[in-house]
Order: sequence, then structure tokens, then C-alpha cells
Amino acid sequence: MGGTRPGVAIVGLGLIARTHATAYRQLAGVVDLVRVCDVDRARAIEFAAEFGGIATFDLAEVIADPDVTVIDLILPHHLHLEASMAVLDAGKHLILEKPVAGTYAESEAICRRAEEAGVHFMVAENTRYAAAYVTVERLVREGAIGDIVHARTFLRSNEKAHLSQPGYWRTQYAMGGGLILDTGAHSFYLLKWLMGEIRELTAYSTKVFGLPNEIEDTAEVRGTTTAGALFSCGFTSVSEIPHSERLELYGTSGGILVDQMADPVVKVFRGDHDFAGEAIAGVPFGPDAWHPGGWHWESVIAEVTDFVTSLVDGRKPLIDPWDCAYAIKVIEAAYRSVASGASVRIAGE
Ligand SMILES: NC(=O)c1ccc[n+]([C@@H]2O[C@H](COP(=O)([O-])OP(=O)(O)OC[C@H]3O[C@@H](n4cnc5c(N)ncnc54)[C@H](O)[C@@H]3O)[C@@H](O)[C@H]2O)c1
Repeated sequence: MGGTRPGVAIVGLGLIARTHATAYRQLAGVVDLVRVCDVDRARAIEFAAEFGGIATFDLAEVIADPDVTVIDLILPHHLHLEASMAVLDAGKHLILEKPVAGTYAESEAICRRAEEAGVHFMVAENTRYAAAYVTVERLVREGAIGDIVHARTFLRSNEKAHLSQPGYWRTQYAMGGGLILDTGAHSFYLLKWLMGEIRELTAYSTKVFGLPNEIEDTAEVRGTTTAGALFSCGFTSVSEIPHSERLELYGTSGGILVDQMADPVVKVFRGDHDFAGEAIAGVPFGPDAWHPGGWHWESVIAEVTDFVTSLVDGRKPLIDPWDCAYAIKVIEAAYRSVASGASVRIAGE
């Protein structure tokens, strides 16, 4: 793969693809968007008209194009393994939307193959680039709250329309559906990044809305880390308040509250009389997650930018794909716990 200017193809042109395409547009001096691909022909043609690139309807055609050196896979989860392997076997660089894949075995296989292929590979886990979490990681590293002893995350969205659509991939486990898989990929990556590995967990899930599908719409996963801290992660896909995320960290000398719907987004509290807390500067308030300026949108732009600039500069991106694979290991344990009703040990497995 010669040339210094990467040629990108986006494969899978759903909602999040627009954010990726916007990032490539902003990086127009550095990369070319060569192809945009979707099995939905009308969608590919419309996307190409808006963002450029040749409208393509088949991944094989994308891979065969020598001008395409980077492939950005944004496909339903059950297609991640086969598509990733095809890209890696062709020696193309790969950016793959989270979750790595639907199972830990598949995730491991992708990470291994990427190492063998020696290409530039990143799992697009936007959590690593959300301004609030970047700030929290710095605060924790600087000792702002001492050692973390308890963490709580909450992720909420409203997927009722999707989840009521017969045949849509998110409504079936066999196609990669599942709230814990879809959203747990973010939270368990975050816990791994901030707190290390998990010792054991117990998970609960339910279907509050009885929509016509087999997927849980509400879940809670809790347990302990190998360092001895407690964690609890809540998830819902049927929220009647906006898509957003919260994080609470309790440490031995203080605590941090993050709420993407609050201004300021990040506050540090030191002691039980610290009613005001310290508002942490530098984290923009962007509650409209899916539009420019929104916390989620901007994290995806930063993620794609890191992938491209790390490729061009010859350095590793900030994300270690094995940490994203680890999140899938935790997710599998959570589903095993839901099925058995028992706690599942992860550490030492
Ligand atoms: N980082 C995030 O917060 C975030 C947000 C949304 C989606 N995602 C991830 O992006 C991926 C896609 O999710 P989505 O919400 O965009 O799904 P989507 O259903 O909106 O879009 C998927 C697109 O892929 C196309 N497609 C299906 N099979 C194809 C194939 N064989 N070749 C080419 N195109 C094909 C579909 O026609 C559709 O346009 C998932 O892995 C999801 O987890 C991540």
C-alpha cells in the first residue's frame, strides 16, 4: 500500500456514519474519502452525493480498490468478524465501530489477526475521547479523589422506534442485538480504563416496554474490580429523557460527578461539607449528543481524528483494541449471569 495520503472507504452508512464522514471531511487535507458503501443502494448514492466518494454496494468491491487503503467498518455487530477478517486479509488499515464483535472469541480473533497483518487498527470506542472522561481520567491519575472505591455509570437512550421494527438487526440476539452488548461495550471499556479489571459480577435485565422483540430494554450489572472497588452499571434503551450518560466515582478523599445533561458537566467534591464542589473547566456542555457540539458527536470526531493522525504520524492510537475486547468478555459474563441468576467470576478465567 503505497502513498502517504490514506484513501478511506466507509462501509455501513447508518446514523453514526454521518459523524465519521464529517470527521473525514474536516481531515480533507490529510485523507481522501474514496468510497462509501452500503447494501442499501439508495442510501449509498445519497451519502456519496452529500459527502463524496464513489457509491459502492459490496464490501468486496471496496477491498479490491487499490486506492482504498483504510476501511472504516460501521456494520451491524454480527457482520464485524467476517468483514474485519476480509479487510485485514487484504492488508488494509481498519477502524471498526464498537463493539469489537458479538463474542469474546470473535473479538480476540480480530485483534490477533490485526496484529499479524501489521496494519493500523483501532476499535472506534468514542468513550476514550469524550472530553468529560478524558478529564476524569486525568483527575484520577493526579489523585484528586484518592483511590476509587465505588463507581456507578448510567447510559440511557430511546431506541423504541428501532426496537419496534420487525427484522431490524438490533431486535435479534443472533444479529448482534442486546442492550448489554451495545451499551456495555462503552461502560466496561470505561471501567477498564479508569479502574482496571473486574473480579466478578452479577447482572439483571428486564423488558419494561414489551416491544415486539426478544431484546432486554433495561439492565443493571454490578460487581467488584480486582482492586476491590465496587461498581454498578445501569443501561436503558427506552428512556423518556434524552440520550445521555452519567458517571459517579467515589474515592478515599473525594468524589467526581459527571452528567452530560448538567452544566458544569464534571464536578469534583472533596469532603462531606464541600457542598459547592469544584466545577472542572474545559469540558464543553453539549447535551444534544448526536449533533455538532454534542458530547457524543464531538467524541466521535476526536476518535476518527486520532485514528487518522496516528496512522499518518506512525504512532499508535490512544485505544488499545484488547481493552475493547476485554469489555466483550465482561458482557458475555453479564449475559451468563442474567441466564443463571448467579454471580460470575471473570478474573482468573
Ligand atoms: N460509538 C457509538 O456510540 C455508536 C453509535 C451508533 C452505532 N455504533 C456502531 O456502529 C455499528 C452500526 O450501527 P448503526 O447504528 O449505524 O446501524 P444502522 O442499522 O443504522 O446502519 C447499519 C448500516 O449497515 C448497512 N449494511 C448492512 N449490511 C451491510 C453489508 N453487508 N455491507 C454494507 N452495508 C451493510 C445497512 O444497510 C445500514 O445502512 C454498530 O456496530 C454499532 O454498535 C456505535
